[in-house]
Amino acid sequence: MNDTFLKACRGEKVDYTPVWLMRQAGRYLPEYQAVRSGVDFLTLCKTPELAATVTLQPVDILGVDAAILFSDILVLVEAMGMRLEFSEKKGPQLSEPIRNRSLAERLAVPDPEDDLSYVLETIRILRGRLNVPLIGFSGAPFTLATYMIEGEGSKSFVNTKKMMFSSPALFAYLMDKITDSVISYLKAQIMAGAQAVQIFDSWAGVLSPEDYRLFAVPYVKRAVAELKNEGVPVIYFVNGCAGILKDIRKSGADVIGIDWRVDIGEAIKKLGKKFSVQGNLDPTALFLPEEKLRERVGDILSKAEAARGHIFNLGHGILPETPVEGAKALVRAVHELSSP
Ligand code: CP3
Repeated sequence: MNDTFLKACRGEKVDYTPVWLMRQAGRYLPEYQAVRSGVDFLTLCKTPELAATVTLQPVDILGVDAAILFSDILVLVEAMGMRLEFSEKKGPQLSEPIRNRSLAERLAVPDPEDDLSYVLETIRILRGRLNVPLIGFSGAPFTLATYMIEGEGSKSFVNTKKMMFSSPALFAYLMDKITDSVISYLKAQIMAGAQAVQIFDSWAGVLSPEDYRLFAVPYVKRAVAELKNEGVPVIYFVNGCAGILKDIRKSGADVIGIDWRVDIGEAIKKLGKKFSVQGNLDPTALFLPEEKLRERVGDILSKAEAARGHIFNLGHGILPETPVEGAKALVRAVHELSSP
């Protein structure tokens, strides 16, 4: 078993820098498209044998040092009681967005063994087939709340912020319920065999630092504290982290995932020695010619030597247009340039 990734999460000495890519299973891979052409996205998530197959694809094709469970952050929201659809054109759609107390009260804290059993089954299948660690995941409470309140993706997050500002008690009630759900979901994933978990805060970067401190990080902190006893590393990824790195420390996570809009050396200075870091290549760098890509990889690797531990990753998910050769070249470059 290749445990380089887990060692880097814990800040232990490694022979080379481990690498995996956010959204590494997905549309840029013809092998994913072949599976996906026969089923819709949610059916793929809910069919453990197929979800396991596409989870394994990037491990075999790219040679990454960790696998991430194939699923979506929004299946938890569906299990809480909202109706979820993925539209090819508009992305995720949730009917009856949560805009008042009675809708929030109707939401359940799901029992993962019942309502998300297909996720746990996928994890069990994968643990029998993998020779790299398996990462489980959840959306962070704030990011999940934005989908639940907006009903879909958003640019301004106006409904979310309206609730935060004009009905703070309702917002807190909703966030507490989401946080309870995230905790029990991640604990169940760990029980089923996930060897690390990542909490995706894809939209926390739209908050002012003050609002992030009030409305987002306290809930992540509670979730991480509850997960500490489970004995696996917790990675906390915030897209748009640059202005809130000091506050992100309060999450207490073992590893902080950072996007590419911040210099990784600067980020490490602000985070300090208590955390490992994960990141942070611009996903579009995979379109560069190989020598240029290698220069950027080398730059990130040398700056990240200052960190307690470093897991190489993109600064956000791999884009569907990405050439597979670019992703392969990245993994090769990280392994070669970080080896003594
Ligand atoms: O990383 C992996 O390989 C594991 C799989 C994974 C998916 N979604 C598969 C997916 C993970 C970890 C996610 C997380 C996720 N989902 C996030 C957080 C990470 C991030 O990117 O910020 C968010 C915000 C979502 C919600 C979501 N799911 C959106 C907005 C969309 C539509 C946009 C898009 O990329 O298509 C999805 C769909 C989705 N999730 C796809 C995949 C492979 C594409 C579905 C398809 O095959 O058509």
